[in-house]
Amino acid sequence: MKGIILAGGSGTRLYPLTKSTSKQLLAIYDKPMVYYPLSVLMLAGIREILVISTPASLPALRNLLSDGSQLGLDISYAEQAEPRGIAEALLIGADHIGGGPSALILGDNIYHGAGFPRILRASRERLDGCVLFGYPVSDPERYGIGETDARGVLVSIEEKPLRPRSDNAITGLYFYDSDAVEIARDLAPSARGELEITDVNLQYLKQGRASLFRLGRGFTWFDAGTHDSLLAASQYVQVIEKRQGVRVACLEEIALRMGYIDADACHRLGAGMKNSEYGQYLMQIAQSLG
Ligand code: G1P
Repeated sequence: MKGIILAGGSGTRLYPLTKSTSKQLLAIYDKPMVYYPLSVLMLAGIREILVISTPASLPALRNLLSDGSQLGLDISYAEQAEPRGIAEALLIGADHIGGGPSALILGDNIYHGAGFPRILRASRERLDGCVLFGYPVSDPERYGIGETDARGVLVSIEEKPLRPRSDNAITGLYFYDSDAVEIARDLAPSARGELEITDVNLQYLKQGRASLFRLGRGFTWFDAGTHDSLLAASQYVQVIEKRQGVRVACLEEIALRMGYIDADACHRLGAGMKNSEYGQYLMQIAQSLG
């Protein structure tokens, strides 16, 4: 399965913060935002990853993540010249996907919760059509919303409904089988001029091949698209990290634990930033797991 991170958009809702930098490079406490979605793909066991962003933001993202080999990954890059919608990522990434299954994640979505790696692996294994991930929110009109019946079966999907039929937001992580690119090719732009990911998901729903995994209580999901959610996500990560002495979305640690790099490599990455607590953490982890 191939991965795609869509780190596009002009970030105007975060102005002036994002006037001269990409939203996905802003800090979520101690690391750039894009580390969080990248950590999700890594935990799903996905190592070939395409990062899609604007021409202006790509050089900085490339500078940060390079070709991924330092993490045992293969990271490549592609441009989305204009914000033409999330589903366009499947078209831009068609060659990368190469006719197989794919996982698409939005560059501003942050997931954290016990057992998530297991959920991701199980979702990959039972993939028939698409797997979507739902999360209850207090402001459902801001999101794609999935309604389920009494048995938990997905029955409707609506993008930013004025009168939401449920509080179950469809979060920005999508697992697709090999049909997603063809479905995206047939889409017409929506009223806001975008290729909507909700329309891809609706096609799968029509075919009876869309399933929803509900991330419930005890799980945390943010889309860091507003000043308040940016701060809330940072505070959340700070609380967890300070209290437990662990790091959330620490790419080098995940690479080590997943066996993508060895302890020496992890230690070297830490030593390269030994003046930061993050770098010191990497050296400690390398020693205790080495
Ligand atoms: C997009 C999707 C929406 C989804 C959300 C999650 O919305 O269109 O369905 O719930 O991401 O972050 P946007 O952030 O583009 O408004």
